[in-house]
This record gives sequence, structure tokens and C-alpha cells, in this order.
Amino acid sequence: MTYKPKVSQYGSVDPAPPLISGKISEWEASLTDSAVPMFQRMRNVFALRNDGTDAACIALCSGFNSHSALLRHEIAYVLGQMQNETAIPTLIRVLSDENEHVMVRHEAAEALGAIGNYAVKSTLEQFVNHPMPEIAESCEVAIDLLDWCRSKEYQEVDC
Ligand SMILES: [Fe+2]
Repeated sequence: MTYKPKVSQYGSVDPAPPLISGKISEWEASLTDSAVPMFQRMRNVFALRNDGTDAACIALCSGFNSHSALLRHEIAYVLGQMQNETAIPTLIRVLSDENEHVMVRHEAAEALGAIGNYAVKSTLEQFVNHPMPEIAESCEVAIDLLDWCRSKEYQEVDC
């Protein structure tokens, strides 16, 4: 017998299910609390994502102060899922930070593509020749996504 995780309202199978009770300030507090088990912290991340508001988005952005690169990466991923433009300045700062973990910067680049605001293209172009291929390739993909969303195929394809 298998008990498969449920598919989220975003169509994804997430590594931890969202908490179904609580409020933004409570969910936010665990993001930077390394005493809380990672599964629980991720439940808070997905609760904030499902909340979907600007306030939830800002709370998630505060989670980039977490010491866990894995959690920061997960936060960047859900900010891309949320497609909330409130996160754009933070994601640009994360992508641009040469001291940030490559995994987090890669996910910030892809999130910037997923949000779909064409104005970030010039930022992505600054890193398209970055010596770390994970960053360069993610920026290349994000730029191509922004361009593709302006194409005729975008209008025609329902996916
Ligand atoms: Fe990733």
C-alpha cells in the first residue's frame, strides 16, 4: 500500500504538505529558526505559498535570512510558483549575491523567469555568461521563457 502525497493547488507534488492552520507571522517565524525540524519549516513555506498574498510573499522573502541553503532554495522555488511581483527585488538581490549558494541563485533566476515580468530580462542577461554553469544556464532558460511567453506559440498552447 502506498500513500502518495497530494498534488498542491499549484499542480506540484511538494516535499512537505502545507500547514492547514496558523497565520503568516507564525509561519514566517519558523523559516529562520534552525531549532525547528526541516520538514516542519517546509510545511510553513508551503502554507505561506498557498496563502498567496503580498504579505505571505514578503514573509517568504524574509526567509532568505535562514542559514539553510536548502530552505532558501525552496523559498525561491515557491516564489516562482506564486508569480507575485512583490518578490522581484529580493530575487534579483539573491541572484546577484556572489556569496549566495549556487543552488539558491539558480532557483532565484528561474523564479524571475516564472514571474513573467519582462523588465527582469536585463538582470538575467548580466549573469548569462556566469562562470558557474548552473547560474548561467538558469538565466538562459529564464530569458528564453520570458521571450517564449511573448510568442505566438504561447497564445496557442494550453499547458
Ligand atoms: Fe532548483
